[in-house]
Amino acid sequence: MQIKKAEFVTSSPSVDLCPETTLPEFAFIGRSNVGKSTLINMLTSAPGLAKTSGKPGKTQSINHFLIDDSWYLTDLPGYGFAKVSKTMRAGFSDMIENYLLERKNLICTFVLIDGRHEPQKIDLEFLTWMGENQLPFARVFTKADKLGYNKTQANVAFHNRVMKTEWTTLPPAFITSVESSQGKAQILEYIESCITEVKDMKKEAASQLPFFVRKPKP
Ligand code: GTP
Ligand code: MG
Repeated sequence: MQIKKAEFVTSSPSVDLCPETTLPEFAFIGRSNVGKSTLINMLTSAPGLAKTSGKPGKTQSINHFLIDDSWYLTDLPGYGFAKVSKTMRAGFSDMIENYLLERKNLICTFVLIDGRHEPQKIDLEFLTWMGENQLPFARVFTKADKLGYNKTQANVAFHNRVMKTEWTTLPPAFITSVESSQGKAQILEYIESCITEVKDMKKEAASQLPFFVRKPKP
């Protein structure tokens, strides 16, 4: 799939104020500065569509982009950004949690993970929360150009090993680099396959897609 048209629709401070629609939606979440907005620009081939920054904390609300008049991408604020106040941080996490739990047309969430690092507690905890709430997701390991493909691949393998201790099946994993557009075709293909799968379903579609189940605690 290639995106032909991508338009910014609106920026919403809460899930209640997000656009009313039954079109399929895909969200991008992850730590601040991991590259969510940059990845959206890469997927849509529209540099400057989502606002990016070298400093963490750039995206502060739920941003909707309408793609080819038929589905949505949403850019979310990052989690784990220490420099905003505690109250603001709590506000962000409420905004994100309510959006992920209540957005009926949300089909799949891409959880971005910095491909340069070994598995981080904050990311693993977030994935656990997704699993506990039965929310479908895929992982995206970003910034592969900074470490090189092989080392990023080794970090993905490490991440898989850690996840396997707690999960019965592993969610898909993509490796991306904005420098080379690595991962773009694979993510778009995955989105297309999800859209095809839910096409004829009603708006409870998301709950019918595979989510990834955690092993029961011993
Ligand atoms: P918040 O909105 O603050 O949560 O951040 P974000 O996750 O949206 O990150 P953003 O897209 O703004 O990117 C953060 C920084 O990482 C920017 O300086 C980007 O240029 C850089 N970046 C993102 N993806 C890549 C990549 O694949 N390779 C390299 N080298 N840099 C990247
Ligand atoms: Mg951003």
